[in-house]
Amino acid sequence: MTRKIAVLPGDGIGPEVIAEAVRVLEATGRTFELENALVGGAAYDDGGHPLPAATLDLCRAADAVLLGAVGGPQYDHIQPPELRPEVGALLPLRRELNLYANVRPAKTMRPLLSASPLKNHRGAMDLVVVRELTGGIYFSQPRERRNDGKTAVDTCIYHRHEIVRIAQHAFKIARTRRHEITSVDKANVLETSRLWRETLDEMAAENRDVKVTHMLVDNCAMQLVRDPSQFDVILTENMFGDILSDEASMITGSLGLLPSASLSDAKGGKVFGLYEPVHGAAPDIAGQGRANPIAAILSVALMLRYSFEDDEMADRIEAAVEHALDAGLRTADVFEKGTRLVSTSEFGSAVCFKLAAGA
Ligand code: IPM
Ligand code: MG
Repeated sequence: MTRKIAVLPGDGIGPEVIAEAVRVLEATGRTFELENALVGGAAYDDGGHPLPAATLDLCRAADAVLLGAVGGPQYDHIQPPELRPEVGALLPLRRELNLYANVRPAKTMRPLLSASPLKNHRGAMDLVVVRELTGGIYFSQPRERRNDGKTAVDTCIYHRHEIVRIAQHAFKIARTRRHEITSVDKANVLETSRLWRETLDEMAAENRDVKVTHMLVDNCAMQLVRDPSQFDVILTENMFGDILSDEASMITGSLGLLPSASLSDAKGGKVFGLYEPVHGAAPDIAGQGRANPIAAILSVALMLRYSFEDDEMADRIEAAVEHALDAGLRTADVFEKGTRLVSTSEFGSAVCFKLAAGA
């Protein structure tokens, strides 16, 4: 089986963390065909567009995409906005590749329990945010995004079929876990949320093996801090998922820990996906060897699990990360007294070593 991976390091800390993720891929001993391409500000600087046609073509021809991060303050004011890394590269990539299902597992790692701001809470967190990724306020058509200096407009639209397909994904994931879905919306205010809730109610009636409960997004933000262990699968729309997944990641100890998979429909038994850390480009720490490569490395594990059906190696990568943490190694974001501060690449080396040692 060919495993063709398009590697898009992007901007800021993207290249540093992706370098470690690629080393881990190589340390698996499996055969992959890797090809790099420019995306985001790096592509804009090179050729004037954040998503060159060649990059998109490479992604289309690949079995999976590994992405670092895009963006940076020097690109925030580019006009028109369609040339900014986020709006001009990340969103079109998601849309063009039909990556509607964004899966963001957030799990407390035992060696990092004390790094969580909720360290006094006894229940560990182990949840998955299933975020709708190609609809809602990020993408609504007709595209009413504008800002004339006096009035600014964004529209939020959801179609029933978009809700159904992401919910189907959440049901599938729930069946591998606690058979519970918390569907998060703002149905006391938004029409899109009412449609979301109606659709979920209909689907829940047809899928009685999974318990579906509804929760308003503000309450969910509060409940996550009060008791994150109450959640198993959080299913939600694009923007709420963006916000809640950052919150969940911080509860694990650092934004630098969480991987994500953005998945399309399975074709010929293969799930095409784009895998990337939940964190952004973090320009303030770029180039200093301070970034945590765990999110990028765990994104590789998700790639093996979802796109290449290699659960065994995915488990081994996750175990190797945990072993490196157990050995006391910490990047700056999760450093505490009594642990050893290491750089991005030192942490990556430790994971590769553990992996090769069959940890
Ligand atoms: C994420 C990011 C992106 C998003 C940004 C960079 C456009 O925050 O993947 O969560 O909002 O989706
Ligand atoms: Mg985000």
